Amino acid sequence: MAFATRRFVRTAASSAAATAAAKKLVVKHVTVIGGGLMGAGIAQVAAASGHTVVLVDQSDEILKKSTKGIEESLKRVTKKKFADKPEAGAEFIEKTLKNLTTSTDAVAVVHSTDLVIEAIVENQEIKNELFKRLDKFAPEHTIFASNTSSLQITQLANSTTRQDRFGGLHFFNPVPMMKLVEVIKTPMTSQKTFESLVDFSKAVGKSPVSCKDTPGFIVNRLLVPYMMEAVRLFERGDASKEDIDVAMKLGAGYPMGPFELLDYVGLDTSKYIIDGWHSLEPNNPLFAPSPLLNKLVEEKKLGKKTGEGFYKYK
Ligand code: NAI
Repeated sequence: MAFATRRFVRTAASSAAATAAAKKLVVKHVTVIGGGLMGAGIAQVAAASGHTVVLVDQSDEILKKSTKGIEESLKRVTKKKFADKPEAGAEFIEKTLKNLTTSTDAVAVVHSTDLVIEAIVENQEIKNELFKRLDKFAPEHTIFASNTSSLQITQLANSTTRQDRFGGLHFFNPVPMMKLVEVIKTPMTSQKTFESLVDFSKAVGKSPVSCKDTPGFIVNRLLVPYMMEAVRLFERGDASKEDIDVAMKLGAGYPMGPFELLDYVGLDTSKYIIDGWHSLEPNNPLFAPSPLLNKLVEEKKLGKKTGEGFYKYK
């Protein structure tokens, strides 16, 4: 009887351990690497939803700019969200900023984090080098995620030894406003990791969708070839860019026309994406480069950010 009881206790203990191992990770502490357009937005929504967040970038000067941007964005969000309750709004900003710290030393801060979200420059080697370095210092349980728009998550995961705890978390710009997050599962991402990333996306107030590790995931895979088709239509002289924009706004109900959107996204970014896909699938006509787009990028007419792209902004 005593033996049977011991065995029962042991079996119960090991199945409890198995259940704990299979349990999803509840993310409490987040490290966001890259305090640019996307990283600052991700840090903001994570801190605003009660996570403790460390935002990492290369210099204190950049981080100061990121923090200032977050404070201004929080004021805008609060004005809408707490229109009739300014005191609650002020409290919300204070609480959010309390959850947020910054650092220039990624290695030093990842030792106690549950989730690392990378949002640095879109460059395979630089991202690989970062993940490889952090892999050595982050705890065993920590999940790594990349916000890349165009690189393969699998290739990034392969620079680490935690391929099962690695996935994509693709946010949209501007992060505080856009509700979508694409959660990317590679063939090596464990179900537990995937579910933890889905739960985290919901916890920061977003609506997650799931996609395999395929070029452009869902949104960009449809959007980039659509914008490139618009450029080709214009290049052939079939319609003016102004008429194409009006047509898509009034005929398809899109909030922006394809040329306005290209200028907003940045022509260099769009060229980078299409060139990358073209090198992966050179025979896919949807991924064919455009001479006009290449010319504008060469002339540094990159869209809104440089004052001129397909349109002038001055
Ligand atoms: P960004 O240029 O605004 O910001 C990148 C930041 O990373 C810069 O502040 C830079 O100083 C920092 N950085 C670069 N190397 C670093 C390193 N080794 N360690 C720490 N910090 C480093 O770029 P953005 O637009 O925020 O894009 C970041 C990522 O998000 C890219 O992978 C991009 O493809 C992706 N993305 C961009 C979207 C967009 O609309 N801009 C939309 C969705 C994803």
